[in-house]
Amino acid sequence: MADNQVTLVEVGLRDGLQNEKTPVCPAQRAEWFNALVAAGHRRIEAGSFVSPKWVPQMAGTDEVMGLIRKPADVLAEVLVPNQKGLEAALTTSAEVISVFTAASESFNRKNINCSIDESIERFRPVVEGARAAGRRVRGYVSCVVGCPYEGAIKPAEVARVTRKLLELGVDEVSLGDTIGVARPKEIHALLDAVIPETGTEKLALHCHDTYGQAIANIVAGLERGIRIFDSAVAGLGGCPYAKGATGNVATEDVLYLLAGEGFETGVNLQQVASLGAHICQILDRPNPSRTGRALTAGG
Ligand code: HMG
Ligand code: MG
Repeated sequence: MADNQVTLVEVGLRDGLQNEKTPVCPAQRAEWFNALVAAGHRRIEAGSFVSPKWVPQMAGTDEVMGLIRKPADVLAEVLVPNQKGLEAALTTSAEVISVFTAASESFNRKNINCSIDESIERFRPVVEGARAAGRRVRGYVSCVVGCPYEGAIKPAEVARVTRKLLELGVDEVSLGDTIGVARPKEIHALLDAVIPETGTEKLALHCHDTYGQAIANIVAGLERGIRIFDSAVAGLGGCPYAKGATGNVATEDVLYLLAGEGFETGVNLQQVASLGAHICQILDRPNPSRTGRALTAGG
């Protein structure tokens, strides 16, 4: 891949909507997925196969998968926490199965009710099963810089968990600043620890924007050779098990940055901005994307 190509993984329909007070119906989620495809996105999270008791907003992801229109080069991605989730995901055409753990024991327990090492063991058959079914696998590590329960997290622990996931056979690891506390210096320290273990090609950065540092952190990632970034249209997002964390970095803001830096994504900024404004209107929420607001009538 040329060094100026960046891949965006659009996570708004999962990370964003999992945090909305009122669940959005599957038909609406599928319509937004299709609009993201039309804007040029090639990797889009469609939802997750988790317990509806834990995250009711993601119920109906199977219906979403049945309603989306997906050209052959578009990957639909879904989160799966265990074997039960995998079984459900494999009845759909999701190309990417994402397992998720953390670099913080306390967060992992709140999020998926087990320790980090237990989660890795739980994922072993999930990764094997997904790969045997011809699906790609992504691994998420949450709380890579800070944890809402434990405070600062050591980069060496993130490197350890990342290595474990890669040993299981995941194709890529997304490093999540779940509560958006990281700053560029901390991202550099994190990547100092992780890149020697993994290289850059299999790494993605997943920035939340709680403290307004996400764009600066993405610049730090670009400087270090990272070329996969997660973002959410209209900055939707948060994590139900990370109180106070705001949304993901807005896709609109990332696209504006990348275009200025000479990177190509294949995604049309104006189309994403229009979709973001439309979604905010439907969800009756302000649009946190500065770029989105600048490019639409106030968003
Ligand atoms: P548990 O309670 O320990 O699970 O939860 P269990 O195996 O004891 O099962 C309890 C009940 O859930 C049973 O039903 C199971 O059948 C059901 P019951 O017998 O009581 O009626 N169940 C399921 N139902 C549907 N799909 C499944 C499933 N598994 C069990 N896959 C569990 C453990 C992992 C299931 C739970 O903790 C869970 O679903 N957690 C999901 C939490 C979540 O989705 N968090 C948000 C995503 S992570 C995130 O946002 C961070 C990220 O963005 C990166 C970043 O920002 O850092 C990725
Ligand atoms: Mg997240």
